[in-house]
This record gives sequence, structure tokens and C-alpha cells, in this order.
Amino acid sequence: MKRLLTLLAIAAVLASSLVACAPVPQVIEKEVVVTATPVPVVVEKELTVYHWWTAGGEKQAMDVIFKHFRAANPDIKIVDNPLAGGGGITLKTVMQGMLAAKMPPDTFQSLSGSELKMYVDGAYLDPVDDVWAANNLDTNYPAVINKMVTFNGKKYGIPMNAHRANWLFYNVPLFKELGLEPPTNVDELIAVAKAIKEARPEVSPIGLGSRDKWTAIFLFDVVLLSEGGPDVYEQFYTGQLDVETDPVIRAAMEKYKALIPYLYPYHGAKIWSDIPGPLGEGQIGMMVIGDFAAAQLVQAGYVEGTDWEAVGFPQEPEEVFLMIVDTFTRPVGIKHPEANTAWLNNLADPDTQAEFNIIKGSIAIHKDVPDSNYPDDLHQRASAAFKGKRIVPASAHGALAPQNFLSDWQDILTRFLYTGDVDAALSQTALVMTSYDVAGQSEWYWAK
Ligand code: BGC
Repeated sequence: MKRLLTLLAIAAVLASSLVACAPVPQVIEKEVVVTATPVPVVVEKELTVYHWWTAGGEKQAMDVIFKHFRAANPDIKIVDNPLAGGGGITLKTVMQGMLAAKMPPDTFQSLSGSELKMYVDGAYLDPVDDVWAANNLDTNYPAVINKMVTFNGKKYGIPMNAHRANWLFYNVPLFKELGLEPPTNVDELIAVAKAIKEARPEVSPIGLGSRDKWTAIFLFDVVLLSEGGPDVYEQFYTGQLDVETDPVIRAAMEKYKALIPYLYPYHGAKIWSDIPGPLGEGQIGMMVIGDFAAAQLVQAGYVEGTDWEAVGFPQEPEEVFLMIVDTFTRPVGIKHPEANTAWLNNLADPDTQAEFNIIKGSIAIHKDVPDSNYPDDLHQRASAAFKGKRIVPASAHGALAPQNFLSDWQDILTRFLYTGDVDAALSQTALVMTSYDVAGQSEWYWAK
């Protein structure tokens, strides 16, 4: 019909121009009346999803979510939009543009905590209290998860897993060959790195892929936890300390500097997912990263206990569970609200979580998923740590520090890995903490 109307319009234009050129007036013999026959509007049942799970292990885990969704909603077509960029670095930028332009997808990935708050503050999200209540998540999820999605008294996302950010992965044959024990604090980390460098100069003692920058924060975070413990960690990232004068922060920066000679030298050219392979092969001795690296090692065929192992790090002064929570949202003004509800319900389902988390490297947060769900040691230890250790929201990947601060902070740290200038790093950090009012932005975290 649209085409017919267009053709008629073109014909009319042509006709009128012909009339204009014609020497004699044209006689219109018969008037053509076009009556618009109503065409039924077919609203496709679909769900547009944006996420960043493209690396080995991540993609396979997302396929599990899709499988469960399709089984429960065979009539809804999934329009999948994976955006590469670990931790959502690309997605965050793309999403800000789409949301500002009022072109929201039906759902997109975020991280619970300050990252989610950023979208809430922008008035880009609708609450999901209906899904929360329907799945009884006040009871079925731990209180700490509840806190990370609640802003202004409402829930703004449905999480389905907890990643642990503070794992130290290491190559087992190398450690056996050199008679090394996994380090428990930053001083031991430096000592083990030194031992590797002396015995096997061709091996990089500590792997890092800092092209995406956030990995530099992951490494700093375990150094800070080792030097200051979890209280200092939380105070630092919520703007409670005077960074320029605080002795613990300075000590952490000094220890971070002491790691530089042991890092994989071309770290600026690599991203996180470039590192697990060489670690599995023994070209890299250790790396500090979340348990999404375990998923990638497993997918690539490296065996836990034989090729690689991971320990919670640091274990001194206190071993904590540094938590990252993957979450999906309900943007304002979406085209397919029913599909969004179905999607969020699926994420809260313990069966989906059970299967997804085995592949993803993270642990389920629904209490109906038992520890025995996991066939491997790493998951079982993560699950035990989640229940038994203090849970601290990770700074990077959304949970604790405000997003605008994190962006500058990762620049400061990646620069520092080349300059090693402690004074400059501390004064720059103090400056961005003040100018972004990190303390003010973090009030939600301390609110009772
Ligand atoms: C997410 C993980 C993901 C990792 C790397 C983190 O922010 O929580 O699910 O595997 O980024 O992309």
C-alpha cells in the first residue's frame, strides 16, 4: 500500500510537470480516489538484548540463558547484540548514546552497584519490583545483592550471578618445577615473581592485559586489600580517605610499583582474555583476575589442578570475596515490555542460574542452587567463600566506586605502570576524588 501511494504521488508530480509544459490544458477524464484499506499491524514478539559476553566461556554461558528463555518463550524472537569489550567498556558508551537518543533496547547488561546507579540517576531505567516480588528474591537472594540493586527504595535490575574478582591464577607445572607455593599477600607475590624471573627469565611472572585499562585496577585492588584490609578498601573507594596523606594508600602504591618489573612487558597491547591461554601454557606464571578467566581456561581445554589453579588473594590480613554482580535491566520506553519481564524472570530462575554459572565461572545467587551443582573445585571454593567470607563489592566493574571516578582512576593506574611516579599518582587521584565528589556519590553505600 505504501508503495502504491508512493507511485501515485510520483505519477501525480510527473503529471503536473507535464501539465506545466503542455501547450494545451489537459482534461482529467476520471478522478482516481485511493481509499486506504487498513493493514493489520503485526507487532513481532521479540526481545532486543545488549550485552558484552563475547569471550570464550562468556558466549557459551549466554547461550545457556538463551536456551532456557526459548524453551519458556518459544514465540519470542531474541535479537542478540553482543558488543565485545570486557567489563562492558564498549557497551557502556554505546548504551549512553542509545538511551539519550530514546532508542532503548528491551534489556541490557549492567553491573549491580554504582554502575546500575548511573543509569538510575539518568532516569533511564524502570523499576523491576514486580519481577523481584514474583520470584520472592527478598528471600531467595542474599541481602548484599538486594542492596546493590536498590536505589530510592526501588529495585532496578535482576542479577543472576556473583563473580569473585580477587583470584590469583597460576601455572601448576611451573610452580611444581620451582617448588613454589601460591602467595598469600603482596610481599609474597613480589617474592614469588622474583623467584620465577630468576629461575625462568623467559617466563613473565605476572600476566596483565592493560589495553582495556580496568585490569590495572584489578591488580591494584588486591594490593590494596593486602596492605590495608577490607575496611580501608571500602573507605578508599567511597571517598572517605585523604589519599594524598594516607600512609596505607601510599604503601599500596609503592607495592604496586614493586610489581612493575615482573609484569608481562607488552601488557598495554593485550586485553584480559589474551592472558589465560599463555598462563595455561606456562609462558605466564600468575595473573590476578575474576573467575571469568576460569571459564575461558576451561573452554580452551586447560585443566584445573593440572595446568592451572587459582587461590583467593590476598589471604592476609583477611581473605574476602571481592564481588562483581552481572545484572540485566528494564529501560524506560521499551517496545516489548512483556518480553522484558519474561527475560528477567528467566534470569531469576534457579534452573537457568544453575546451568549458566557452571559455564560462566561465577556462582549462582539463588539459594535453591546447592553447592553440589558445581562439578569443579574452583566453583565450590567460590561458593564456600561467598557464604563464609566477608563480601566486599569490587571497585572496578561497577560495584563500589562511581563510574566517572573509575574512568580517570584507570587512566592514572595504567600511566603509573609506565612512570612509577607515586607522588604524581597520589595527587592526581586525590584531585579526581574531590572533583567527582566520590564521597557524595557513594552515600548510597553507607546508607542504613
Ligand atoms: C563481568 C563478567 C565478564 C567480565 C569480562 C565482568 O564485568 O561481570 O561477567 O565475564 O566482565 O567481560
